[in-house]
Amino acid sequence: MTIGMVKPAAAVEAGRKVKAETRGSQGVRRFGAALRLASNLAYDGFRYWRNAYLLEASRSRQRAARMMADAHFLEYGMSLSNAKTGLGRARAERLASDMELHLRESGPDSASAIARKTLESYLMFNAVDNSGLKDLQAVLTRHPAAARHDVAAGVETVSAAEIHAKSAIDFLGFVRSRHSIRSFKPGPQPVEELKRAVIAAQETPSSCNRQSCHVFAYTDPALLERVRKMQAGNRTFGHQLAGILIVTSNLNAWETVGERYQGWVDGGLFAMTLAYALHAEGLGTCMLNWSVEKEQDRALRRLTGLDDSQLVITMMGFGWLPETLDVCVSQRLPLSETLTLNPPLTG
Ligand SMILES: Cc1cc2nc3c(=O)[nH]c(=O)nc-3n(C[C@H](O)[C@H](O)[C@H](O)COP(=O)(O)O)c2cc1C
Repeated sequence: MTIGMVKPAAAVEAGRKVKAETRGSQGVRRFGAALRLASNLAYDGFRYWRNAYLLEASRSRQRAARMMADAHFLEYGMSLSNAKTGLGRARAERLASDMELHLRESGPDSASAIARKTLESYLMFNAVDNSGLKDLQAVLTRHPAAARHDVAAGVETVSAAEIHAKSAIDFLGFVRSRHSIRSFKPGPQPVEELKRAVIAAQETPSSCNRQSCHVFAYTDPALLERVRKMQAGNRTFGHQLAGILIVTSNLNAWETVGERYQGWVDGGLFAMTLAYALHAEGLGTCMLNWSVEKEQDRALRRLTGLDDSQLVITMMGFGWLPETLDVCVSQRLPLSETLTLNPPLTG
């Protein structure tokens, strides 16, 4: 050991192990870690196997996800600059048949309303040559009750000027004014602010517009206290929070083995929009990691009643900002360490 080198004491600080325990030989610890990794991967894998629709979309939420994805593909086809009539016929037929089954088994809901509206606009798009689409038309005629006036679908034309006018904000200034907040002042339960923030987070892009994410929000002090105690990273400031959120992604949304990590991607994107939206509402937020092993994940499920299909992406604490507060500088790396422009190809 280098003379003068600091030797950290075994400790847990702010919920994180600073130094691994050194009991047992290196080999035994390595084997233990490998075993835990394997059993946690199996936990994740079996949950994916049980909940994704790898073979058939037989459950209501799986079918709803497939309907959202099929509706998306039809919209996608119709929105292309070289959109061709007739494109997506097989998906349109599957969407119509899923919609009928869904209405029969689960009753009308958002997915069936979106499906119906999308099929309506698909038929309109194909109006010049709708030979062979009579079956689709018949499905729509059979299910007028699936329609909802608050649901839109298909394609809309927007202008660059309109987009530029609405997006002309000091975005860098906005993102730089967000910090992970670990100091809050008391205040009312920010329920309206939270609702507006979740509406904004719903605008996050999602894989085939399947919108797998959900926010379980605890602002009631008694519930909040019990939920936050499940998460170690808020230990030093969690008692000041106005609310704690559990952001989940529903595994029923995914169809293929390749999509096995899609929930993390969509969930992470959603969580970030939500954090920015709460920031825009004037609230402070702190992401609270749910990077845990299966026993802890099961304990949270037992406490909250979260069902097996809900993949916990992260928790998030939020609350009212004090007049002044200290935040971490959290220096960002130089651009060159994050951006590589046109790296040479190796294949
Ligand atoms: C997924 C995720 C989980 C996090 N978990 C915690 C946590 O448990 N406790 C905490 O105090 N900070 C947590 N953070 C906050 C990070 O430490 C913080 O984002 C990072 O240091 C950068 O600082 P900034 O957010 O102020 O820019 C988490 C951040 C992310 C993205």
